[in-house]
Amino acid sequence: MSMLTLPGLIDPHVHLRDPGQTEKEDFFTGTAAALAGGFTTVLDMPNNKVPVTTAERLEEKIKSAREKVVCDVGFYFGSMGENLAEFAKISSKVMGLKLYLNHTTGDFLINHKPTLLRTFVEFTDKKPILFHAENETFDTVLDILREHPRPIHLCHLSTSYELKRVIEAKKKGLPVTCGVTPHHLFLTKEDETSLGTLGMMKPPLQSLRDLDFLWKHLDVIDVIESDHAPHLLSEKQSDTPFFGVPGLETTLPLLLTAVNDKLFNRAQGKLTIDDIIRLCHTNPARIFHIQVDPETKTEVDLDEEWTVENKNLLTKCKWSPFDGWKMRGRVKKVFLRGKKVFEDGNLLAKPGSGKIVTSQT
Ligand code: DOR
Ligand code: ZN
Repeated sequence: MSMLTLPGLIDPHVHLRDPGQTEKEDFFTGTAAALAGGFTTVLDMPNNKVPVTTAERLEEKIKSAREKVVCDVGFYFGSMGENLAEFAKISSKVMGLKLYLNHTTGDFLINHKPTLLRTFVEFTDKKPILFHAENETFDTVLDILREHPRPIHLCHLSTSYELKRVIEAKKKGLPVTCGVTPHHLFLTKEDETSLGTLGMMKPPLQSLRDLDFLWKHLDVIDVIESDHAPHLLSEKQSDTPFFGVPGLETTLPLLLTAVNDKLFNRAQGKLTIDDIIRLCHTNPARIFHIQVDPETKTEVDLDEEWTVENKNLLTKCKWSPFDGWKMRGRVKKVFLRGKKVFEDGNLLAKPGSGKIVTSQT
């Protein structure tokens, strides 16, 4: 046994599906999955069934979350460019603005450049604007940023092309940060053969070359974000599968295994515990202006070997693309503001015991 205490870990990119699609996940099950995965704060995306693009819907979401969450949760606001008058009303309540420039779950899209530009400049907050931008829209965002510098966060980079563009932008001093998902660090296109539609997500799995490039330039990556995107197994296995994979309970074990085992997957000994703290605590806290209580922490056993099994997951969707993977490193105990909320696979927290987080700008 080799115990290690990590500071409160933050996942800045999850889809808890509540309200609107609580058959997939809800505030209680999603935050329980976060604790089981060692995360004490999650930031929830606005692509609900009815997107969170009005102050009223945001209020309703926060109100419902308050009663159900078992870890700390913050929210992003969404826009399709039609709701600029809402920005002033929601400013103090959100962690940032999320814009979708490509089709994905929810089809909640800005695909008109003048609208995008107007939305970009009207969100005058110090908080970041987050982008789902793949392929040509990726360059569009960086073009706009050069003309109108302000903090932006590029979600789920997956290709060497994208990371190269971010390296250039950072060299020029542009205020850009980026995140990478665990599935883009541990899976490639080749895995689609065995995963089938369970390996479908946006952005899609990429080549081994892309994956190697991400690992090689880990120092430029700012955060690991799970993009926890639960869908029912029956939906994933249907003729019209939705994009997305759950990730909250596998992110930290995968990272710990990569630290422990130089032969694991393609990480090749490139990851350290300090990297995990930087990518899952220090950087997300800084970028999204989150104050983490010093008594909020996660204890892991670095030595414990175990196997990911769908049936043991706390996420309501009860499946993982990493089902059957052997891990070395396991979450043992989680504390929220000094109170033990998770221990040895058991959730100890009551619904509503998590806090709604606001940005400390
Ligand atoms: O695969 C994805 N699923 N990518 C996204 O951008 C959205 C997410 C979801 O909400 O299902
Ligand atoms: Zn997402």
